[in-house]
Amino acid sequence: MTLKNPLARAIGVFDSGVGGLTVLQALRRRMPHRDFVYLGDTARVPYGRKPPEMVVDFAVGIADFLCEMGVEGLVVACNTASAVALPALVERCPVPAWGVIDPGVEAATRVTRSGGVGVIGTQAAMASRAYQRRLEARGFQVWARACPMLVHVVEEGLAESPEAGMLVRHYLSGRPPIDTLILGCTHYPLLRNVIQRAVDEDVTLVDSAEATAEVVSRALEREPHPAARGRVVHFVTGDPVAFAHTAKVIGGVEGEIVPLPVTELAAA
Ligand code: DGL
Repeated sequence: MTLKNPLARAIGVFDSGVGGLTVLQALRRRMPHRDFVYLGDTARVPYGRKPPEMVVDFAVGIADFLCEMGVEGLVVACNTASAVALPALVERCPVPAWGVIDPGVEAATRVTRSGGVGVIGTQAAMASRAYQRRLEARGFQVWARACPMLVHVVEEGLAESPEAGMLVRHYLSGRPPIDTLILGCTHYPLLRNVIQRAVDEDVTLVDSAEATAEVVSRALEREPHPAARGRVVHFVTGDPVAFAHTAKVIGGVEGEIVPLPVTELAAA
């Protein structure tokens, strides 16, 4: 079975699950007339605890699927996949591919005054040192911490709970002085208030979803395809009902949700 793209020249966006919807929302705010195809690989989430070569395989299969649909650009709306798979995707895809890491680093570079920059994310993203290498290359003092529990806290709808506050304080404890903190995971913008309360008021939080949307919208400045109507189709490899339910935490989904057998995503 091959699914055809129901939308003309859409922008492809993918994540391991619902988290990339924060990036999709930011993209849609900036480009309301464009069509998007979102793919949430919910059958295989989380990527953040998987070996990098496995995440590369998943990402390549998804990119092939979206490119076959004729997307005009591909947004890797997942920090973990961006950290380990973006070079492979850029090389392979016939259309431009953007990750969330470079835009986040650029945004941090613009806001830091002291050069003390923190970054938090999944274990795989932090272990890849993708953020750390880029920030260190600019001469910043970098503090990085994997916060594996926070994805689950958000997915359980507990972002504003006392437990979320406790975990965030735990993960952020022992940090050196920083004036900028990159939210290096798609789920963390949902914890923005809790994180801001746990750090000093003058620490600026950098949301890579916003930063990525800015970069992509600038690159795609030209007019959208005339048939574009600001629509979104979501493909999900896991249970569509569970996807819709979990997505409520992130503001819900607008548009069709189409189940996609994960076997359709094997890299060619
Ligand atoms: N989307 C992932 C990221 O931004 C978080 C969830 C996962 O571990 O798959 O790194």
